[in-house]
Amino acid sequence: MSVPFVDLRQQYHSIKAEIDAALLEVLESSSYILGRYVERFEDQVCRFLDTRYAIGVNSGTDALLLSLVAAGIGPGDEVITVANSFFATAEAISLSGAKPVFVDVQEHTFNMDSSLLEAAVTSRTRAIVPVHLYGQPCDMDEIMAVAERFGLIVIEDACQAMGAKYKGRRAGSIGLAGCFSFVPAKNLGSFGDGGMVVTSDELLAAKIRLLRDHGSARKYEHERVGYNSRLDSLQAAVLSVKLGYLDDWNAARGRWAAEYDGLLSDVDVVRPSTSPGRSHIYHLYVVRARDRASVQAELGGKGVSTLIHYPIPLHRQAAYRDANYPELPVTEKLAREILSLPMWPMMSSEQVRETAEALQRAVGSAGASKAAGGRLG
Ligand SMILES: Cc1ncc(COP(=O)(O)O)c(C=O)c1O
Repeated sequence: MSVPFVDLRQQYHSIKAEIDAALLEVLESSSYILGRYVERFEDQVCRFLDTRYAIGVNSGTDALLLSLVAAGIGPGDEVITVANSFFATAEAISLSGAKPVFVDVQEHTFNMDSSLLEAAVTSRTRAIVPVHLYGQPCDMDEIMAVAERFGLIVIEDACQAMGAKYKGRRAGSIGLAGCFSFVPAKNLGSFGDGGMVVTSDELLAAKIRLLRDHGSARKYEHERVGYNSRLDSLQAAVLSVKLGYLDDWNAARGRWAAEYDGLLSDVDVVRPSTSPGRSHIYHLYVVRARDRASVQAELGGKGVSTLIHYPIPLHRQAAYRDANYPELPVTEKLAREILSLPMWPMMSSEQVRETAEALQRAVGSAGASKAAGGRLG
């Protein structure tokens, strides 16, 4: 049996009648950009996340960029974030004109190490952008406390964490703003690009609303230079249907993660761990393996698809070559060892078992092919 990394077609087929009807309704309405389907989805997201405002935009990247710009962040400012994320986290900071400053991460959660924040704050620091990586919320109490102490704003990159909870509150609803991505493979995925900013700050929400539509609140009147970053109705209609299933789908991911945990308990890999007080929604189930390249190749040979999120930390990307960022030892070590296993809500027990068994064999043979394998980490 081959195991894909994710099977989006299966998800579509599980709710095909509802999705098709929702899409047809939009086609019949001929209302394609913003409008009532986007507003309905924004209202649903507000209720789901318990925030006052939700603003649909065209991507998670723009959700971050527009939040930063609306908060007044720009050239000369520094924004603290992490380097083990998708490139867009730092890219949005750079596009705002500010400089990304990277802190290292916790080895056990892959998330921002809040104990390093204070030392990274300078007179130019304006914001912190924690990333709830793989679907596990960061240490938000500690991050918010540092932000408060230094007068910084917090913009949560919750692009991988739609539905996750931190001490009972949804990820993305804790900082000044929370940013989401709806690319197809996310836990809540559209049929293309889409994103959302949530906030309970009225002024910020109004600014982001202006920015997403060419700085315009009224047709052909432009109060400021903005962006073309609107969510379209077809995506909103799909997302409205899927949001009703999200908690169940996230719970299913949690069950597969628990099954992986059990099957891999005697295998020589480091399994993901969840800190107390939060729910992990397993956008990705990521293990750490010694000799990762040969383990991944062997899994691939057995038909088990895996990916690496992410192979090159952001401070080592060519785009930041001239910034001469210092070393981030934990981030760099994790980047050499991480391996994302197949994970989606409708996968089967057999696919989980097949993956775990293939991993056990691959780790065994990778170990055997080394003269003397060191301990992980
Ligand atoms: C952590 C993180 N930040 C930002 C983004 C950017 O989102 P998008 O691809 O929708 O622009 C993504 C998703 O791809 C992401 O995973």
